[in-house]
Amino acid sequence: MKKAVLLTLFCLSESAWGKGFDKLAKTPPMGWNSWNRFSCEIDETKVMRQADAMSASGMKASGYKYIVIDDCWHGERDQDGFIQADKKRFPSGMKKLADYVHSQGLEFGLYSDAGSKTCGGRPGSRGHEYQDALTYSRWGVDYLKYDWCNTEGLSAKGAYATMSDALVSAGRPVVFSMCEWGESEPWKWAAPWGHLWRTTGDITSCFDCVVDHGTWKSWGILQILDKQAGLRAYAGPGHYNDPDMLEVGNGMSQAEDRAHFSMWAMLAAPLIAGNDLSTMSKETLAILNNKEVIRVDQDPLGIQGFRYLMTGDLEVWAKPLSGGDVALAFLNRGLTAAPINFDWQKHAIKDDWSKRQFDFQKQKHTVRDLWSGMDLGTTERPLVGSVGGHDVWLLRLHGT
Ligand code: GLA
Repeated sequence: MKKAVLLTLFCLSESAWGKGFDKLAKTPPMGWNSWNRFSCEIDETKVMRQADAMSASGMKASGYKYIVIDDCWHGERDQDGFIQADKKRFPSGMKKLADYVHSQGLEFGLYSDAGSKTCGGRPGSRGHEYQDALTYSRWGVDYLKYDWCNTEGLSAKGAYATMSDALVSAGRPVVFSMCEWGESEPWKWAAPWGHLWRTTGDITSCFDCVVDHGTWKSWGILQILDKQAGLRAYAGPGHYNDPDMLEVGNGMSQAEDRAHFSMWAMLAAPLIAGNDLSTMSKETLAILNNKEVIRVDQDPLGIQGFRYLMTGDLEVWAKPLSGGDVALAFLNRGLTAAPINFDWQKHAIKDDWSKRQFDFQKQKHTVRDLWSGMDLGTTERPLVGSVGGHDVWLLRLHGT
């Protein structure tokens, strides 16, 4: 008896991660999620159109693969407590929809909440964790985003560990995205239980603002970027900080979208598109589908970048990459163009955390501009030019 109690305690305090879960999200997950563009106005036709667009646009070929339905897909629980899809919006049912997504060579994701209700007021998973995990596995769910509304009295670590354990028990490997808004510093405890954790409250489609909703706030691109300070030591293959889903194509200027996407790549952030892929402009697609920028994000080392320099509105960020390369982002936070005259010979970028150093006096590097696709010579000559307001210059340097 005593042995059984001890064994149970051991099981609850140690992660049961494994069974294929530890092989997922070695690089930051890439996909699409319904929330930023559609909020609760989601249905199966819209979801199928996103899957079609992800394949047809070339995004699938670039690595995007998860089609995730966020809040409001839920109907009621049946008499045995099994969750049902909303019958009006998803008349074919989730299994059929998952099959459709899989038939496109993509993967299927859903959203739930650790509390009694989701943020949108639909049934949450509290008290139904194992049953819901089983249902998701039967439907063919490959990705679960798990939110934190209506969780009075719950400990975050306990609630996320419970759902993690439930998913492992159900047996189908699932990318587990923990959406607790950074409130209990999940970066310190979440890695054994899931693959990504939100570090902040919700993003909003604005480059530099805070929107006050009364009881909560949503955050602009720069505000979220600033909240990532100090978190890079917690990220790496299989476990990533999540600064929230992308707002590319949701109303910011092209420069702002480009800067947003570049900085998410510098952060090794999950690249979860949040726009309507079925109607996006070719300019939006060109941003989401820039393969060289995606390659910075998806670098196998999974090192989160850091702010190397700040002068006025101009910041220089660095992200060490595999093969001895490094990505540098010159980010202009201001609204007017910022001149650049960056003499590489005067810089040695040292990253104590990843133990990498880029001393341009000691080693010559070639310089490539990832947005224009142009080679800009080498680090023997200073980088001269200007970065527009709310825009970025994103470079990849390669040691010769
Ligand atoms: C929370 C999450 C969002 C979204 C909504 C859905 O606010 O942080 O990303 O999932 O709930 O209601």
